[in-house]
Amino acid sequence: MTMRRKPRVWLSTETIKERIVALSKDVNLEYDGKRPVVLGLLRGCVPFLTCLMQQFQFPFDLEFCQASTYPDGTEPSGDPAFQFFGAPVLQGREVLVVDDIVDTGATLVRLLELLREQGAASVRLCTLLDKPMRRKVPLVPDWVGFEIPDRFVVGFGMDLDGDFRGLPWIGTLD
Ligand code: IMP
Ligand code: MG
Repeated sequence: MTMRRKPRVWLSTETIKERIVALSKDVNLEYDGKRPVVLGLLRGCVPFLTCLMQQFQFPFDLEFCQASTYPDGTEPSGDPAFQFFGAPVLQGREVLVVDDIVDTGATLVRLLELLREQGAASVRLCTLLDKPMRRKVPLVPDWVGFEIPDRFVVGFGMDLDGDFRGLPWIGTLD
């Protein structure tokens, strides 16, 4: 087994949860009286989506899709491919995509495009973290938990080669 650097707490569990509660109020306003498809982008979305949807005041259909991961652990390569689970019908639906972090934006920009191609009536994006200075394509999420600088983070769903996803806080490795 390789030795890994130990992550240090950067955003505490309490800070993250408080922010999610605040953020969900804006999402609730948007979807008041509607029934969107909430589409989680596996696998990193799981803790964020779990916390977030517990705050939702509107009914929704929960669906999942998965993007190909970065082969070398930290850098994107090529055009992302997506696998949907259970072939959800998105034609005419309002879709709220939930993800852990937007970095270059390459993954999300392609997914949002795909959802529009499938006839979604609206496509919105809610991400826990955003690294706007890393953006390589124009993409502005509708709701962001925290804007962060260009640092690699782990925990609360985010991993390095599969490690650290289960941490209840967000940490840095440097
Ligand atoms: P993008 O296509 O470059 O925006 O990549 C977004 C995806 O890259 C996220 O959903 C994460 O899976 C991964 N990613 C980007 N930055 C980080 C990070 O700092 N820690 C862990 N995963 C990251
Ligand atoms: Mg992700």
